[in-house]
Amino acid sequence: MSKKPLAIVILAAGQSTRMKSARSKVLHELAGLPILNWLLRSAEELNPKKIIVVAPPAADEIRKAAAPHTVAVQVTADGTAGAVRAAMPDLAGFTGNVLILVGDAPLLKPETMRELIALKNEAPNAGIAVLGVEMADPTGYGRLILSRVGTLKKIVEERDASEKEKACTLVNTGAFCVDGARLGRWLELIGNKNAKGEYYLTDLPGIAARDGADTYVLAGDDPNAARGCNTRADLAALEREMQKTLREKFMAEGVTLIDPDTVYFHHDTVIGKDVVIEPNVFFGPGVEIADNVQIRAFSHIEGAKVEKAAKIGPFARLRPGTTIGEEVRIGNFVEIKKSEIGARSKINHLAYVGDAIMGDDTNFSAGAITVNYDGFQKHQTIIGKGVMIGSNVNLIAPLNIDDGAYIAAGSTVTDDVPADALSVARGKPEIRKGWAAEFRKRKEAAKKKKKKK
Ligand code: UD1
Ligand code: CA
Repeated sequence: MSKKPLAIVILAAGQSTRMKSARSKVLHELAGLPILNWLLRSAEELNPKKIIVVAPPAADEIRKAAAPHTVAVQVTADGTAGAVRAAMPDLAGFTGNVLILVGDAPLLKPETMRELIALKNEAPNAGIAVLGVEMADPTGYGRLILSRVGTLKKIVEERDASEKEKACTLVNTGAFCVDGARLGRWLELIGNKNAKGEYYLTDLPGIAARDGADTYVLAGDDPNAARGCNTRADLAALEREMQKTLREKFMAEGVTLIDPDTVYFHHDTVIGKDVVIEPNVFFGPGVEIADNVQIRAFSHIEGAKVEKAAKIGPFARLRPGTTIGEEVRIGNFVEIKKSEIGARSKINHLAYVGDAIMGDDTNFSAGAITVNYDGFQKHQTIIGKGVMIGSNVNLIAPLNIDDGAYIAAGSTVTDDVPADALSVARGKPEIRKGWAAEFRKRKEAAKKKKKKK
């Protein structure tokens, strides 16, 4: 097969009207990564000479997401053909294959892109190869209308289709591989006489055929290849597919998911082997989980590194900047923020640890918290090894508690505690014998007096 140079054009200049959003739909995220970036990841795998993203004017966010690739501007969103036309100056003199992709369909796999290019390369007079896919419910997609001998007659958009054409289930994924030498000429021939009054890229195969070029259809077998993001419901459907892929990947790598459908991963989540994840766990950005960790139900984890054999949850929240050491236990209703927890330490119930460094083998009891914020600034708490922090303790930062110290339950600690010392910082108990009985008697008497009146 001749290896022609490849350029990829991604169309992302639409108005995203149906999303009812201030942002372009290509910037909406799936597993925390913008749709455009999922597509760019796949496009980059093909090692093209050039990737051009077509964006609307003043689209700084799209520019940022597209970097370091070329961004072409489509001044008016007058259709998908108009978008490709906007990329032509960046393709001046390019005579290789141009792979055109719609920017809102991120599940198209690089293997499928390669197959489409290969099909186009096989035939010497091929002008265009279009990727189609059979969809049980083709509603909303353009239909590929084939001739009796199986060649592509035309692509018709749903709103321009006859009832008979609407019954066709072979849909246009929006992925086209086109001969770069003739693309510019064909684009100029596209008109806008259709239901939307737009310049449709889908008119290109018909024009190429009239110009004497052969057009081909690759009928793919993965309906996800076509799945675009036009509405919030589509966005949710794409997220479901993306999560499914991530769950399958982790299970294949040796992670146990007790109820996979209830665990949500971020695109950058890293998980070791023999990790067990219970139902209803959410991973935000920047999470790394080492081998043999157990993550119990209803935990929310972001920006945290969890080392070997630690147990997290149920109902735990790990926030950014947190490192949990080996064999640590983090129990229910515990929140940890920007803190390092030493190996084998235990924070088992109802606690807040923020801006802290904790040594190994320390126990942080129920209801204890670091008081890290004074209303203006955050302060650090440094706790040594083998420390025992009792229940309901307030550690007022900045504070140092040295190795082996004990903090009595209920203490509000404002002063540093030296190694192996005990800090008790609470009111002395006072016992008043018979006080409660006396109090009740007085109350009853007052009640009776009121009734008599
Ligand atoms: C398009 C196809 C349809 C196909 C479907 C697959 C056309 C006319 N229709 O329909 O056949 O089944 O994709 O998902 O091509 N865009 C621009 N500039 C514009 C208009 C759109 O850059 O002026 C971009 C959009 O940002 C989007 C992509 O092109 O990323 C596709 O546009 P969209 O409006 O989503 O097209 P569909 O109606 O889904
Ligand atoms: Ca679309």
